[in-house]
Amino acid sequence: MFPWLLAGALLSYAVLPHCAASLGERAFPELSSSALADLANLREPSRNLDSSDPYSHLHKILIPRPADTENHTLVRNYLVSTLRKLNWHIEEDSFVDMTPYGPKNFTNVIATKDPDAPRRVVLSAHFDSKFFPSYPENQFVGATDSAASCAMMLDIAETLDPLLDARARRVEQAELGLGDDDDIDEYTAETTLQLIFFDGEEAFIDWTATDSIYGARHLAETWASTYLPPHPKRRLISAASPSTPLSTIEHLILLDLIGAPHPRVRSYFPDTAWLFDTLVSAETRLRAAGILDADALGRSFFYSRSAGDVSLSYMGDDHLPFLHRGVSVLHVITEPFPHVWHTLGDDATALDLPTLSAWNVILRVFFAEYLGLRPEPSSKRGEPSSPTHNPAQVRKSDNEL
Ligand SMILES: *[C@@H]1O[C@H](CO)[C@@H](O)[C@H](O)[C@H]1NC(C)=O
Ligand SMILES: *[C@@H]1O[C@H](CO)[C@@H](O)[C@H](O)[C@H]1NC(C)=O
Ligand SMILES: [Zn+2]
Repeated sequence: MFPWLLAGALLSYAVLPHCAASLGERAFPELSSSALADLANLREPSRNLDSSDPYSHLHKILIPRPADTENHTLVRNYLVSTLRKLNWHIEEDSFVDMTPYGPKNFTNVIATKDPDAPRRVVLSAHFDSKFFPSYPENQFVGATDSAASCAMMLDIAETLDPLLDARARRVEQAELGLGDDDDIDEYTAETTLQLIFFDGEEAFIDWTATDSIYGARHLAETWASTYLPPHPKRRLISAASPSTPLSTIEHLILLDLIGAPHPRVRSYFPDTAWLFDTLVSAETRLRAAGILDADALGRSFFYSRSAGDVSLSYMGDDHLPFLHRGVSVLHVITEPFPHVWHTLGDDATALDLPTLSAWNVILRVFFAEYLGLRPEPSSKRGEPSSPTHNPAQVRKSDNEL
């Protein structure tokens, strides 16, 4: 990440067409406070974010891992194998690009719960660490930049995976006319969760247009120029233009520089201000319910936003190639940056476990509400007693087309 403030960039951004996948501003049904507690308790939220625990995701990721190195491959393989265990669809987007040190290999990792879904909400972060040519700087592990975010993404996938399965069963039942009347709406049910671990975010030398965000530039370009076969449900939303993988992203949520105590995050883009407010609301309700310990965490993680606020600047980061192609972006980055930014101090000691744990729970709630998931206390979990259904039966929504 680079603190590059691009004044006036909103002008060019504002004239871009909105992505076809956008369902627009809306209110997600809020979980009850007991459901919030169930979600927080589903799995210990700090478990995978404690680097001192050798079995935590963070421990596996928190090593020097500049692009195109052996350690980087180890981390990539760890991300892939963790998500394969969940049976998510994995795509490894490998390519070679020219860097100030010559050609280098890069690989973005993309994991999707349901690759056939018409739309996806994307949670993303970069998994490479910044390259430094000599000792001791070459031991830089980028704890906030962005190892902690990557570990959290894995934990979110593991936590929400069974809830996404349960949602699929609810949808199936509703289509057979067996569900509750006030159940999940059709559009929400068509959005899946996708994780993107970007490679090569960091500049090898100095941040420039060609020495930075290698993975994000490659992926956004590839996805803008790949055409998808017509999807029966996608037609409901966009009849106008052929769809590309890019146009099926409803929102791209990018995490960066997360994990240090007392973070402050602002809203950057007018079209996702409402989504930012949804994130703030999750935090507010978790604090009010006593699930997050306000005394320990201090003030809100978010700058308050007033209706008229328009930010005239934004940060150079992996979202830009997507933003410039019309994708709706929520950039969750702390401002100011952690004081250890791009120094050896950005190691395990820069992280605050209660803060990380709070981020994890806030994001669980945000995605659960976005995706219409229903956490259940562990006592109620287990295989549902669903009536056998006939797969040959025509799906209700297909009939309606
Ligand atoms: C690879 O990671 C290990 C920690 O697992 C570290 O000790 C080593 O220095 C790293 N290698 C390089 C080349 O950075
Ligand atoms: C990329 O990796 C392959 C092996 O996977 C290697 O043969 C090739 O030399 C690498 N390319 C660059 C530019 O490092
Ligand atoms: Zn960085």
